[in-house]
Amino acid sequence: MRVAVLASGRGSNLQALIDKWLEGFLPITFVGVGSDNVNAEALLRAQKVRIPVRVFPLDDYADKKNQEIDILNWLEDLDTELLVLAGYMRVLSKYFISNATYPIINIHPSLLPAFPGLNAQKQALDYGVKVSGCTVHFVDEGMDTGPIILQEAVPVYDGDDVASLSKRILKVEHQLYPEAVRLIALGKVKREGRKVSILRES
Ligand code: GRF
Repeated sequence: MRVAVLASGRGSNLQALIDKWLEGFLPITFVGVGSDNVNAEALLRAQKVRIPVRVFPLDDYADKKNQEIDILNWLEDLDTELLVLAGYMRVLSKYFISNATYPIINIHPSLLPAFPGLNAQKQALDYGVKVSGCTVHFVDEGMDTGPIILQEAVPVYDGDDVASLSKRILKVEHQLYPEAVRLIALGKVKREGRKVSILRES
């Protein structure tokens, strides 16, 4: 399966995917890593293993629509079969989603539908939940509202702050995201409307 990634920053989830791929765990080819941020660490991580990179800085375009058209063309040229968002900090427009010919997935650091949007870990702490976690989901036109593929819970401890909770969740993200990509690449993820089922391996 031909997988492209969009990332805006640190890229630790991209790194987790690359590591699992190097271990032979993912039956995929990384066809490209794109970013809206020329300084994204994610780009360096991709270059290190010779994945082609492209940057799409918003400032280079008349507006977001033109930027998205460029990204869509790049993905089309790469024959993308799955688009993975790994810390991509821009919301993809309705135009982008409806013109993408491949599924798009995202990872979010909370148990959706709780705490969508920015600063999910802070939202969870402020609310006082005892359990949070992370969610891999298909991307639709809403903000973190797409059909859920995998979720895993992470405990919230007394005395946690954003840094400690984020670190605990991130460790789980780095396992969950490669597993979701692996299941999709193996054709084991079936989507019917909002319901996503995993065809378990025998
Ligand atoms: C992760 O917490 C992910 O859940 C969220 O953005 C963060 C990206 O981190 N969507 P990284 O760039 O993968 O290190």
